[in-house]
Amino acid sequence: MAEETLLLELQFPDAQRVFNRLYYQRGGRYAEDFTTATSRGPRLAYAEAKDFYSYLCELHKAGELPDVIRVLDLGCGNGNGTAFFLDKLKELDEKGKTGFFGRVECTLADFSPQMLEDAKKSRHLRTYRDITSFMHTDVETLSLPGDGYLLVRSNELFDDLPSQMLVFKGDHFNDVRLAMHLPQRIPLHMKDGRRLARQDFARMARHLERGLSAVDGSFVKHLELEVIRRKAIPDLTSILLLLDDFVKMPEGMTVPVPLAAGATVLQLLPYLHKRARIDAFDYGFNSLGELKKLQPAIFRTPGALTTFVNFPYLVRIAKLAGFRRAKVEPQAAFMGKKGKEADEHFYHLRIER
Ligand SMILES: C[S@@+](CC[C@H](N)C(=O)[O-])C[C@H]1O[C@@H](n2cnc3c(N)ncnc32)[C@H](O)[C@@H]1O
Repeated sequence: MAEETLLLELQFPDAQRVFNRLYYQRGGRYAEDFTTATSRGPRLAYAEAKDFYSYLCELHKAGELPDVIRVLDLGCGNGNGTAFFLDKLKELDEKGKTGFFGRVECTLADFSPQMLEDAKKSRHLRTYRDITSFMHTDVETLSLPGDGYLLVRSNELFDDLPSQMLVFKGDHFNDVRLAMHLPQRIPLHMKDGRRLARQDFARMARHLERGLSAVDGSFVKHLELEVIRRKAIPDLTSILLLLDDFVKMPEGMTVPVPLAAGATVLQLLPYLHKRARIDAFDYGFNSLGELKKLQPAIFRTPGALTTFVNFPYLVRIAKLAGFRRAKVEPQAAFMGKKGKEADEHFYHLRIER
């Protein structure tokens, strides 16, 4: 008899919830599986810091610069990107003798305790220990210390966040579920070393139980994913936000709907200063033509289970939520000389209050 390998089957967003939570237990070792723009060098963080510094000068001139300049790094990872950003901001402030840097307070947030531990241990970041603090939070149930953040920055977080994968079928939609297969020879364990029965893990994962955080996630790298398409009813907001695209879309096309990234933008609102900016950098698409080019490999492993970010959807969400401006710009120029093919799909989403 063929070996029974099915561990569990989940809707795509839940599969991302379970898979990524277990995956990022590896802490900064994710860099062994894939590189982020940050791990490829400081260019992106430097460019963002330069831009933010000009913004601080502008606010200062207009008498609108807050006494404390609060910066939040969401999905901070090992903190290298934050450290690069602070390096450049400090350098520009010293050159300009503007005295802004002494007013900066920076919070690094992540849902992975191991990742936060790695960030805390970073020697580079430790040079900023007087102005940095760490927050363990899942952006899906965002909880932050204080409010009045002037800048929220995030690099390659949104593509990790749960998205619905809708498949346009002309007169109806399907969506994607993932069957996760794991060879029987790979055992499951709790972090304390106890063996975990497959059916117990599957039950916990189906209910997204809190106890999942006690599971040793090292097996996720051995999972094989099988795509299953089922008839789906998308939520009304998604239909409304994507209507313009659907009328032009060929049948069979898969559209990622970034439900959790959209919700994150909304959840940030009460935490923001009245002149705040959100800068999110990620792989994604900014037109239907580009989405077509990315088919069918619209979601990816190895590494975390990621999707290309639907930027037009996020721009529409931001405008609905009352943000003043939201725009998307390609970033390949800041990705370093050894560009990857995917760099042409790397974008900066800026949302302004
Ligand atoms: C690809 S890494 C990028 C890390 C870092 N920003 C960089 O540029 O190197 C994504 C980060 O987002 C975090 N993350 C993923 N999902 C999250 C969630 N729901 N809430 C908070 N952090 C999350 C992961 O733990 C990881 O540190």
